[in-house]
Amino acid sequence: REAIIIDTDPGQDDAFAILLALASPELEVLGLTTVAGNVPVAVTAANARRVVELAGRPEIPVRAGCERPLLRPARFAEEVHGKTGLDGWDFPAPARPPEPGHAVDWMVETLLARPDGATTLLPVGPLTNVAMALRRSPAIARKIRRIVLMGGGFFQGGNMSPAAEFNILVDPDAAAIVFGAGIDLVAVPIDCTYAAPTPDSWIADLEALGTQVGAAGAGMMRFFQRFGNEKYGTATRPLHDALAVGYLLWPELFTGRRCNVEIETASLLTLGMTVVDWWGISGRPANGLWLTGCDAAVFYGRMLKRLARLG
Ligand code: BDR
Ligand code: CA
Repeated sequence: REAIIIDTDPGQDDAFAILLALASPELEVLGLTTVAGNVPVAVTAANARRVVELAGRPEIPVRAGCERPLLRPARFAEEVHGKTGLDGWDFPAPARPPEPGHAVDWMVETLLARPDGATTLLPVGPLTNVAMALRRSPAIARKIRRIVLMGGGFFQGGNMSPAAEFNILVDPDAAAIVFGAGIDLVAVPIDCTYAAPTPDSWIADLEALGTQVGAAGAGMMRFFQRFGNEKYGTATRPLHDALAVGYLLWPELFTGRRCNVEIETASLLTLGMTVVDWWGISGRPANGLWLTGCDAAVFYGRMLKRLARLG
């Protein structure tokens, strides 16, 4: 089993990532850390609690982390995710509060207490917590097996600015630290996620599960897709963060290339751009696997079967 820490800002698509991970016996979820992103950090922490409780896994620890990016003011995505971050389903208040203590402290302590190369990080929000942990304790680098993150976009352009994707744009300085850390890295950018939209029947299929997770999932999907449909005129929407878990489970469904990726932190016009040296022009060494494709039909079919296990 691959032990993972999910660093997240739920977010409907984050909720699906968490649910898919909890439904998958190949993964051991050590805990969830939350960050300011789609909504403020106190809300992402409460939402992460809501999701583990929906999954019937209330014992999974959740801790709140950084409330703003390293150097810049916070910015949120309530227009995408709604005021609650999980609009589309009326979640009850969580039964338990998040664990006390700061998520970055817990991340560092947990990594250091485990063997070298034994823990995977799965960040699906802005990279503030992960960058803070790397600065706080550089020794965690050798404890990390790999970082599989959702973020960035190059061939697809950006979704928060013409040049930048949300998770990177919110904290480009943190992203630069993470991409430059020398840790085995896999990026699931919007180049990949927009190439893998949910099948037309997927919401109905979720609802037809007849479970709580199916009903909540269908509700969240309806809300989440409406934004994309109105803004971009597309009929379906990708479930960005869930694809990062999909890569951990079924890497054979994905295509991409190992190459050099650098983060723009200085330009006003292209701040947060993930500059991908796809053709190896710069001579800079590859620092990650950049995914561009996914067999969406197979992925969403398998994900549905996993979600059906949660009840
Ligand atoms: C990313 O931004 C957030 O809004 C989503 O949760 C996802 O992590 C997509 O650009
Ligand atoms: Ca997210």
